[in-house]
Amino acid sequence: MSNTQPAPVASEHVELKARKVSFDWEETPLHWVPGDPFTTHTINVLHLLLPAGERWFVHVYQQALPYITDDRLREDVIGFIGQEAIHSQAHDDVLPHLRKLGLDPTPYTAQVDWFFEKLLGDRTLPPGRPRRWWLMERVALIAAIEHYTAFLGDWVLNAEELDRVGADPTMLDLLRWHGAEEVEHRAVAFELFMHLDGGYRRRARTWALAFSALVFLWQRGIRFFMENDPSLVNPKSSFADFVRKGRQGVLPSTPAMLRSIPATSAAPTTPPRRGTPRRPWPIWPPPRRQRRPLMPRLTTVALVAGAALLVRRAVRSRMTTAPLWPMPALDTPISGYGRAAPSRARSA
Ligand SMILES: [Fe+2]
Ligand SMILES: [Fe+2]
Repeated sequence: MSNTQPAPVASEHVELKARKVSFDWEETPLHWVPGDPFTTHTINVLHLLLPAGERWFVHVYQQALPYITDDRLREDVIGFIGQEAIHSQAHDDVLPHLRKLGLDPTPYTAQVDWFFEKLLGDRTLPPGRPRRWWLMERVALIAAIEHYTAFLGDWVLNAEELDRVGADPTMLDLLRWHGAEEVEHRAVAFELFMHLDGGYRRRARTWALAFSALVFLWQRGIRFFMENDPSLVNPKSSFADFVRKGRQGVLPSTPAMLRSIPATSAAPTTPPRRGTPRRPWPIWPPPRRQRRPLMPRLTTVALVAGAALLVRRAVRSRMTTAPLWPMPALDTPISGYGRAAPSRARSA
């Protein structure tokens, strides 16, 4: 195995533009993948996570803008901010429709609001190094998350099985428009992190954190939707369902997801942008020049093992039997983004 990073590849600069879109949800049924509530709700978790998550991207990147010294990168980051702001709004617009169909997502979205706006929100820190440290941690986390959104974007653009089983065309339009823009701007978060910091340890640490948090929030979201779906008498969800649906092609396959964990090439058919390595977030192997004898390798192995144990625990015992863990919630997001007051659902 080579220890060198892939050579940069020059490519034309693509201007990132926010595209105005609107979707009419009137005709979209509760189970928009017909007869398949598990697949429907697994993908529906995007509507729970992305409104708060992408608003948080925008908030953090606005703070990072003054530190950017490369004009073209600043332009890209501004384009990225515009795209993510519209993505967040588009997914948020699905939530009132779900509520109308009897599936109130508010108890869960209030927790996601807490996660992004409080736990990962601004801290009262002295100016200088501590404040910059917290900003860099969040910039690195966003780059790690964008690694997965680019993977999912690439997957949904090619998920022909969803068309074949008759998935709702409006929902597919939303997912594919968003997926296309995720692939389009997939290198921006990586480039910004490399421009502002680029440290391997921070990359590895935040990658493990982002992966663990996504698995935790996603399996929790699936269980939330399944347990609160008014049309399901005996709601069950398991990791085996996820693997089976991945084999059918209506969800990403488990082997493809595992392959994407250490290094991804989000859109293999598209040339990388502006000198970005073909694999935008390669965690392994660590770059030779930053490697110290033994320790970084051991640290990476320990992080990977820790993340794997967390995933195993989450998918084995939490998806099927245990009640959802209590988690703090924000009734009114700090960002001021309005939501209705949470209603009581069966579990949150
Ligand atoms: Fe997005
Ligand atoms: Fe994105």
